[in-house]
Amino acid sequence: MDPFSFETLQTAVLLLDESGGIRYANGAAETLLGVSRRQLDGQAAAPYLRGCRSVLKTPLSQPPWAWLLEIPVHHGARYDDRLQDVAEQAAQHETLRNLAHEVRNPLAGLRAAAQLLEMELPRADLHDYTQVIIQEADRLADLVDRLVSPQRLDFEPGLFNVHEICERVLALIELEFGPRLALARDYDTSVPEIHADRDRLLQALLNVARNAAQALTEADHVQAPTVRLRTRILHQPVLLHGQHRLGLMLAVADNGPGIPPGLRDKLFHPLVTGRARGAGLGLSLAKACLQRHGGLLEFDSRPGRTEFRFLLPLDVA
Ligand SMILES: Nc1ncnc2c1ncn2[C@@H]1O[C@H](COP(=O)(O)OP(=O)(O)OP(=O)(O)O)[C@@H](O)[C@H]1O
Ligand SMILES: [Mg+2]
Repeated sequence: MDPFSFETLQTAVLLLDESGGIRYANGAAETLLGVSRRQLDGQAAAPYLRGCRSVLKTPLSQPPWAWLLEIPVHHGARYDDRLQDVAEQAAQHETLRNLAHEVRNPLAGLRAAAQLLEMELPRADLHDYTQVIIQEADRLADLVDRLVSPQRLDFEPGLFNVHEICERVLALIELEFGPRLALARDYDTSVPEIHADRDRLLQALLNVARNAAQALTEADHVQAPTVRLRTRILHQPVLLHGQHRLGLMLAVADNGPGIPPGLRDKLFHPLVTGRARGAGLGLSLAKACLQRHGGLLEFDSRPGRTEFRFLLPLDVA
């Protein structure tokens, strides 16, 4: 039996060994379970199947394969979950945007009043207090701007070379973080031009790369802190809207401390942050950007190695 023949199936297929460990997963299984096959390899299947309503299990006697599992994609709970996840995220963003609009005007009034007050203050040392008001109002205004910005920008796709935006992002990171970290490239130069919204993709990549740089520079004792950008072509990837002939994988890796365990399940929710002055928007906006392109944002993280991967279609589904 050649597992390769399962690749193009819409049905999720897993091949298990005698102890129930995953030895093969096709593309549809990756999408359904929301986990890459590299991560699935060798893992016990049972925890991943909780919540899948109909699993067809056929015994095999072809070592190392002992079981063939088929999960019809459109009946899988995880697939439904993913669509629900997209809908829930959109609703969350809508609520936050409405809130942001409400906050905007009073905030501008607050800042202006603090400036007027500052001019009337009899002693210069009292300016410290008005400056706190002004600076915090500016910080909130910045947050509010970022919350409403996806609505303001139209989606403007065009053709461009993805390595060009990679280089832009690395240049911006270098400007901000200077010699405190090293930047590395591992590009597949045969990646064709991508049809996408350049500015939005650049912003999403910058959000993820800045997180990596911040994690490296804010942690103690990171040996040779490095942010690495990697590109690869994907063949037959299954992305948000199904299977594509070709895809792009664009990864940002760092050798920092890793995502704090308590954050992992809700990492892409807006306003979730592990940093004292973080707004918790970078990743949720990056994920929304990828979904807008029919792509996915996935990550794995352990101390010493964290990687975020942008998975994007290079053709139309
Ligand atoms: N590469 C990374 N290594 C370690 N932790 C990370 C990494 N990337 C993200 N995180 C964690 O995920 C949190 C959420 O990131 P996100 O970009 O959404 O928000 P933020 O960086 O806190 O704020 P901002 O809106 O300014 O980006 C971060 O606060 C950080 O704790
Ligand atoms: Mg961030």
